Amino acid sequence: MPIKKMMVAIALVFSTAWFISANILVAQSPMPQLAHTGSKYQLQVDGRPFIILGGQAHNSSASNPEDLTPVWNSLVAMHANTAEVPIYWELIEPQPGQFDFHLIDDIIQGARSHGLRLVLLWFGTWKNGAMTYTPAWIKENQTQYIRVRNAWGEPMEIISPFCAAAREADEKAFAAVMKHIKSVDEAQRTVIMMQVENETGLLGTDRDYSPQATRMYQSTVPSELMGYLEAHRDGLMPALKAAWAASHFRRSGTWAEVFGDLAPEAFSAWYVARYVDAVAAAGKQAYPLPMYCNNWLVGPGAARAGDWPSGGPTIHALDIWKAAAPHIDLLAPDIYLPEFLETAAAFHRPDNPLYVPETGFLPFFAPYAFATLAEFNGIGFCPFGIDHGVENGKLTPQGEALEKNYRVLEPLLPLIEKYQYTGRLFSIVQDLDRAKTVPLGHELAAVVHFTEPFRPDFHTARAGGIIIELSPDDYVVAGSGFRVDFRYLQGPERSPELLSLEEGTFEGETWKPTRRLNGDEFHVTLPEQPRILRVRLLRRDENALH
Ligand code: DGJ
Repeated sequence: MPIKKMMVAIALVFSTAWFISANILVAQSPMPQLAHTGSKYQLQVDGRPFIILGGQAHNSSASNPEDLTPVWNSLVAMHANTAEVPIYWELIEPQPGQFDFHLIDDIIQGARSHGLRLVLLWFGTWKNGAMTYTPAWIKENQTQYIRVRNAWGEPMEIISPFCAAAREADEKAFAAVMKHIKSVDEAQRTVIMMQVENETGLLGTDRDYSPQATRMYQSTVPSELMGYLEAHRDGLMPALKAAWAASHFRRSGTWAEVFGDLAPEAFSAWYVARYVDAVAAAGKQAYPLPMYCNNWLVGPGAARAGDWPSGGPTIHALDIWKAAAPHIDLLAPDIYLPEFLETAAAFHRPDNPLYVPETGFLPFFAPYAFATLAEFNGIGFCPFGIDHGVENGKLTPQGEALEKNYRVLEPLLPLIEKYQYTGRLFSIVQDLDRAKTVPLGHELAAVVHFTEPFRPDFHTARAGGIIIELSPDDYVVAGSGFRVDFRYLQGPERSPELLSLEEGTFEGETWKPTRRLNGDEFHVTLPEQPRILRVRLLRRDENALH
């Protein structure tokens, strides 16, 4: 064979082999998914359970790749595994149908080179109850892309959920984004989940008062929604249930007849959720990553829907979203309120796993990572504004508070993934009590004494930790700022004998001890610096008593 022909043949063989192996690679890397069996949920990445220890970038950081450097550096210093980063409709589609994905490519490259996964946040039609990230060609054309009207009939800075043209434009743009992510990331799956829109709803009005919207408001509630509510009546959120109960659980009627005072918010929720669901469906058709929506919670002092974005998937409207948005895998609270645990409890439901896409990046909130993963079987935890974890090469106070907790959580993730939903994970978050009793199983309790008093402000770090029951006599205790006494729950005060105490870490599910502590250090003490202890108990031998 002449040399030239031979080289062509070799090149052909190689390129065919590359093509085949690239396809095998794609086939070997399963889609990220939110798997569930009944009411037990697990995020899976590369076919394995994956818990997000993350942080969210500031809103503008992803418009300039250089501004993402502090985000990557903070997350790496924090022992995080995932970055939440926004992508902006206005910059991706500056002219109708003309797409520019270079910012997405930069984000993916940046995450990969720092060993991080990504949750991308689609800042599309909605950003914090308004339309600030829609392209200029949407903002400038109010005839085609119609706005919500307030009760005085004035147009607002919010796209109307009844605007089919805007919805179709958002669907097309989001589908193009997902198609692009598929084309650049299918083999590596750096992007593991998408947030569709950001804090949807109508800020500043309880509903759209345009003539078209008012006609819809005065017509009957869709039977699809009524059927859903009937079927799920027992588990409905209290506010919605109370509003519906006031109409004696009417099975049909106008929004006001069925939902009374909650009607404008319920109405907004249904139509905002239908809009967002269509966007998610279009995106999933291109590339079906798990998708969720975050929400602006009803805060103290907020009296009426519109003080918070009316119709967003907040506590009042969560059930309506469940009925209206089957393509949204979960609804997630942005928790900046001190009532973190109450909020987490409300969103952790048989039909909704807990994901905390935003919480304050403040020492106060840092120990809630333990509660999210242990107490609420959460799939992830992400403080907002993670850019400020490290400054001048040093951890900032809020960075230090989070790093401490993520440092011990990181090696424990395989165990946490294994024991979620088994009743064998317990969390410790310090509050005003100097000590608290955490009931474990098997008639045992962990009595937790905090090393420092709690100061109820957002900027002071506080103790937090986790207890994992490996077996009735074998526990992992991790965290900082407390000590633990194991006690029997029944009868007069009595403690089991400690059989052994070790400090160490886990590699996968394998314990790697570093120090044996059976002498002067024979106490389950986790002071300022976080540590992981393995505590083996010697249980009472009933026969020895006789
Ligand atoms: C919640 C929003 O979802 C974020 O994008 C950001 O605006 C924060 N609030 C700021 O606190």
